Amino acid sequence: GFYVGTAVAGGGHHLEQDYPDPFTHDKPYRKLLGQQFSSVSPENQMKWEFIHPERDRYEFGAADAIVDFAKRNKQVVRGHTLLWHSQNPAWLEEGDFTKEELRSILREHITTVVGRYAGKIQQWDVANEIFDEQGNLRTQENIWIRELGPGIIADAFRWAHKADPKAKLFFNDYGVEDVNAKSDAYYRLTQDLLKQGVPVHGFSVQAHLSLRYGFPTSLEQNLRRFDKLGLETAVTELDVRMDLPEDGRPTEAQLKQQADYYQQALSACLAVDDCNSFTIWGFTDKYSWVPVFFQGEGSATVMTEDFERKPSFYALLSTL
Ligand code: XIL
Repeated sequence: GFYVGTAVAGGGHHLEQDYPDPFTHDKPYRKLLGQQFSSVSPENQMKWEFIHPERDRYEFGAADAIVDFAKRNKQVVRGHTLLWHSQNPAWLEEGDFTKEELRSILREHITTVVGRYAGKIQQWDVANEIFDEQGNLRTQENIWIRELGPGIIADAFRWAHKADPKAKLFFNDYGVEDVNAKSDAYYRLTQDLLKQGVPVHGFSVQAHLSLRYGFPTSLEQNLRRFDKLGLETAVTELDVRMDLPEDGRPTEAQLKQQADYYQQALSACLAVDDCNSFTIWGFTDKYSWVPVFFQGEGSATVMTEDFERKPSFYALLSTL
């Protein structure tokens, strides 16, 4: 009943445009992916820009391949994601649509994508990163909230639930590991939606951590308060980055501290009743998004680029 997952790297995104898709081309990678994990999350393959590249065209190939792979390896899948401000196709962000059109575009997308994988997705990140650091809705950045108002969030959950009544539907964000203004905003919103009978089932923390900022020590307390609302909780994108020394190689002390963060994150989840899904955002530094997005930081996953297990890998194993 407890799932340990990883993001599945694909071609494109932060890797070079023509980089061969690791999922299909890197055999050792694929083998570890099948053997070491009981849950998988498409890192990019179900995002709008990949799965819905043109208004009248869906591209399901990469997502289908992951869902099939998961089935063959007896893994569950976390779907990611349906309503987000980022990685939307240009046709959508730059299109000239009326509010009615936008609403039906979102409804059709959710119905189509969730419907296609109905029965095969354990948890969906329905709404991703809707609040900013102060706990305000991203009313400017997020096309859906900007154009259609905050009520669209409840609609997204309703449409997803209709398309796959078995999938658990989540809010997902970063910077919400601790009890803070941003997680408070989710706490209030989920309470509100639950009162209205909106099918919200979970709250998840991405947990993109850095040795720079310390471990979010109220993580367990935070998960617990959502658990008490009757929600499931999950850790969905854990990685622990660090400032790399000049030679690019982490020190032993850094690796030890990193292992401690991984262990603490897993322990927090294990300590909370309905925290049943724990996912790391890639398992090898070979394909990690971290060096591309965070200048000077790296070594954020549990294996080196050569798939050597780091102390963090063993820390997770010994905590399970
Ligand atoms: C990242 C991917 O890892 C990159 O490949 C991509 O270029 C950008 O997105 N929060 C999320 C994830 O919800 O979808 C992001 O994934 C990382 C932050």
